Amino acid sequence: MVNLTIDGRAVQAEPGKTILEVAKENGIFIPYLCFHPALKPIGSCRICVVEVKPGPPRPLPACATTVAEGQEVVTNSDRLQAIRRELMKLVLINHAIECPICDKGGECELQELTHALGIDQVDLKAIALPPNHDYESDLIERHPDRCITCGRCVRICRDHVGAMAINFMNRGYFTELGSGRVPLDCEFCGSCIDICPVGALINKQFKYRARAWEVDKTMMVCPFCGGGCTYELHVKDGRVMRVYNGDSVLLCGRGRFGYPVVEAEDRLKTPLIKENGKFRTATWDEALDLVSAKFKEIAAEAGANAIYGIGSPRATLEANYLFQKFFRAGLGTNQLDNPGRLHYLKAVAGLAEVFGWPKVTEVKAVGKTLPPYHSPLAISEETKGSGFPFVLGSFEELAQADLVFAIGADITPELPPLGWAVNKARQNDKFKLILANPRTTKYDRWADLSLRYKPGAERLVLAGIMKALLAAQPDRTPAIASGNLEDLQETLKKFGPKELATKCGFDEAALFEEAATLLAQAQAPAVIFGVELLGQDKAEQTVMALADLFLLIGRPEKPGSALYPVAEKANTRGVCEAGVLPDRLPGYLPLDDQTAAAFWGDKPVIKEPGLDLLAMLDKLETDDPAAPQALYALGGDLLRFLPNRSRAEKLLGKLKFIVVQDAFLNDFAQMADVVLPVAIHAEQEGSFISSGGSLGVLNKALDADGVKPDWQIISELGAKMGFPAVPGSPVRIFQDLAKNVPLWAGLAPGKTVGSGIPATLSGKFAPFDLDISLPGRRPFTLIVGKVLQHSGSYTTHHPCGTLVVTPKGMLALHPEDAASLELAEGDEAKIISSHGEITAPVTLDANLAQGVVFLPEHFAEPAAHMLTLNSNLVRVTIQKA
Ligand code: FES
Repeated sequence: MVNLTIDGRAVQAEPGKTILEVAKENGIFIPYLCFHPALKPIGSCRICVVEVKPGPPRPLPACATTVAEGQEVVTNSDRLQAIRRELMKLVLINHAIECPICDKGGECELQELTHALGIDQVDLKAIALPPNHDYESDLIERHPDRCITCGRCVRICRDHVGAMAINFMNRGYFTELGSGRVPLDCEFCGSCIDICPVGALINKQFKYRARAWEVDKTMMVCPFCGGGCTYELHVKDGRVMRVYNGDSVLLCGRGRFGYPVVEAEDRLKTPLIKENGKFRTATWDEALDLVSAKFKEIAAEAGANAIYGIGSPRATLEANYLFQKFFRAGLGTNQLDNPGRLHYLKAVAGLAEVFGWPKVTEVKAVGKTLPPYHSPLAISEETKGSGFPFVLGSFEELAQADLVFAIGADITPELPPLGWAVNKARQNDKFKLILANPRTTKYDRWADLSLRYKPGAERLVLAGIMKALLAAQPDRTPAIASGNLEDLQETLKKFGPKELATKCGFDEAALFEEAATLLAQAQAPAVIFGVELLGQDKAEQTVMALADLFLLIGRPEKPGSALYPVAEKANTRGVCEAGVLPDRLPGYLPLDDQTAAAFWGDKPVIKEPGLDLLAMLDKLETDDPAAPQALYALGGDLLRFLPNRSRAEKLLGKLKFIVVQDAFLNDFAQMADVVLPVAIHAEQEGSFISSGGSLGVLNKALDADGVKPDWQIISELGAKMGFPAVPGSPVRIFQDLAKNVPLWAGLAPGKTVGSGIPATLSGKFAPFDLDISLPGRRPFTLIVGKVLQHSGSYTTHHPCGTLVVTPKGMLALHPEDAASLELAEGDEAKIISSHGEITAPVTLDANLAQGVVFLPEHFAEPAAHMLTLNSNLVRVTIQKA
């Protein structure tokens, strides 16, 4: 530690910290403007000047001066105050004085500092600059005449978001914040708004609706992706005013601007029962009585396996845990799964094949009362872990990787915070980035190597890289213990490097060698793979290839060196870990009596696994006697997200009785016999597990009108069916679940699954399939995927949310492809696959390779999955509509 004095007070500080940081830690006030805790200091405004001995005679900026042994720091003197006052006058010289109408009033750092420094007038004159207001941009309003050129917005946008959408224009006194374009053409994350110390950047959703001091603030985890960001929800008179993230600042657009979904006009407010093909409103008792009676009737006639459950990544851990308990301990069946089957569970299956299922031994019960959402299990000295969860990395760790290899992921729309972690890692001088994707994505501009392969060729790319790695280093010992390298070598024999390069669409096999060299040199390599890869039908095979690669090059003992599969939604990882699976209990524990007894007493566990979601549909297709007759779904518009929509619609139509728990009467809910309206995030308590494994907590900020939280509906339905009582609050349900999941030992809000558990990692090279043929011979390959401004379908329900920026789904295609089809921006195109045909407006996108087109899947229209078969990739023909 470093010993110094600040204003005569002896303090100790960690070496490398700045004087400003140490003063803050010790409650000593030093004013500042350009500094922000989320940013690297640049020392430009000089408001934070302090006197330092030993040191130069001039004052030094506290934000950019590190502490030193024996230093004597003075933070307040007549000289310093005079300097600060003069500097503030210069800042104020051309600042529009309109505090009464400025939205920042009450939380403006300039306003507070002006008062603190006692400045009541500015005796300097200058040429008035034009205000250059921007009222045109979506969601963000700009007032350059209030800007103090601190550069916080420029730095957050450039260094952390990586959008580089705003910058300084002109020089000296005429310096102005600009984007080069009006209106703004950026990611609309709004991080610039919260980091702006003044009112130069305004949140249009919040403008003139409330003052900062009028709102009630509730901390909660964001529900719109698997990033696990937390923020404050500001509520006034029972209505959300804004989402605010003052300290950590970073949020994506859907996190910051997506909240109006809670007030969407088409939200369900009362249960619905279908009679003679039409819905009528019903009371909760009527609806739950009907569901109970029907489930009992079907179970009595056809057995419990005739009822199938689909959990939800939208619902909390607690709701999903109760849901699987309803099926297993109540009905007595393992017939349940969750929509992660379409992507994330393929990662789980592939990784479990190579690294094994999780095993954690010797955790111990915590023998005292715990705070809410803390695991009742603690890690003891004897605790040991193994299995795939221990090769998964957290976002914090990713920032320490010295190489990121991202394949089959469009990182920013799939999981924005993962991209921010990559940006943090980029700050390291030795950092390398390899990006492999069929199209150019945002991060290509920083890539040391971009591999542009044909859609669906990921396994061939991986095979080429591993072949090059082993050819260059024939005696290479896998970095992770594994005893069957020859099995991998056998798999790789199928094609030579040139053949692989041709199949991938590369001009030369040397690209494999370049990638292999970078990977072999990395000391802490991280591997990201995304929904674009996981949504393919053989993604489990691709994940095995990725896991094989990690066995060769991974260094899990180094922070950051890990695998990072994208778990797209807020609780995609959580719904799997909560046990909504046909073949695993919570914590991926096996279906055995001992484990089940821990969860729900002496009721024998059903050891026969249920059908997974896709196998269930196959059984319906063949009218197999093992096909279910009833379905209970915790929401999610299955028709919007299942591949081959018309097949899904036909098969789900065979079910005798469907119950859907959702906030909206979406297309799938329209098929239901009973619809139960649910509370949305801010209206309930509960928790999620993010893609990076951190536990995030929802706190109730709004009263829900007519709707109920998922956990309560499941609990009330279980009571009507005579099932054992369940704990009566989300906190108690969490304890009930967590006390039997050893993998969660030590888990608490903000903490990460498995962190702190000493793990022994070993793996077994898995042979993988190198056949990548895509069905059909049509000229274009369509990728169905995600866009930045939407999360599932929820954000498409309110016109004032992110629909403002991305109002509809459009077919993106390369300008030259468009020209050859005589299509221009905005034209309507007909897209035809062997399974269906839809029309969509066209947008031109030079980031796509020629022959590759893209459609988002969030929108009811165009219904992208009318075209797909069993994957997010399909060959299509495109014509002018
Ligand atoms: Fe230190 Fe601006 S806050 S120079």
